[in-house]
Amino acid sequence: MSKNQKGLKLKDNLDLSKSKNEDNLLGVYKSQNEDELIGAYKDWALLYDKDNDDVLGTVSQPNSVKIFHEYLKDSKLKIIDVGCGTGLVGLELKNLGFSNFDGIDLSQEMIDIAQGRGYNSLFLGNLNKSLPIGSNSYDAALCVGVFTHGHVGPERFSELVRIVKPAGIICFTINENVYESQGFDIAIKHLESINIWKVLDIRKHDYMVKKNVKGIYCVVKVT
Ligand SMILES: C[S@@+](CC[C@H](N)C(=O)[O-])C[C@H]1O[C@@H](n2cnc3c(N)ncnc32)[C@H](O)[C@@H]1O
Repeated sequence: MSKNQKGLKLKDNLDLSKSKNEDNLLGVYKSQNEDELIGAYKDWALLYDKDNDDVLGTVSQPNSVKIFHEYLKDSKLKIIDVGCGTGLVGLELKNLGFSNFDGIDLSQEMIDIAQGRGYNSLFLGNLNKSLPIGSNSYDAALCVGVFTHGHVGPERFSELVRIVKPAGIICFTINENVYESQGFDIAIKHLESINIWKVLDIRKHDYMVKKNVKGIYCVVKVT
């Protein structure tokens, strides 16, 4: 374990010096506001899974769930997938034997596709506002592909913490190209310094392999 310039503990293979996503191809990244983002996902929903495989080579869903599973073995624990999209994380959870998970997303069209992918309940919600979920409702949360260009910033970590029970686990990804520029690195360290969570794992790993973009994968324990 080493530290980056700002003192955040990092796995030794986490090299933040390179930032490779220069093309910014995805229409969703360019959204200027929530209505545009909802519209962009409405247009993309039917092709999302295919593009993830064929165009982007997205591996964040299996990678996240694999890392999550390293820290959470009890398949009965109650999990929320925040920004569940079409349910690709749900499919991975189901494959690993998890059976008690819900999904929430900003886009009804994405949620519609997630039906039948193992979620107990799927509902609309906006992480940039207060989610329609009580405090301390879940044993764990996953949030994959949501902390990225034009989506959600580090100031909303607090909402994930709110809905997860003390000692619960949160596993999230951050696109490498917003990690430092949007202050995710500082926020993660700050929340640890004020005892909101303990960072269990942080690593840089493949994210969209066909775009040569990596992601930061983080697992924290709520204190
Ligand atoms: C890149 S997709 C990732 C979907 C899924 N987690 C996956 O890994 O395939 C981002 C998802 O986050 C959702 N999203 C974006 N902003 C959001 C917000 N403020 N609140 C809730 N969901 C949001 C989008 O609708 C979209 O389904």
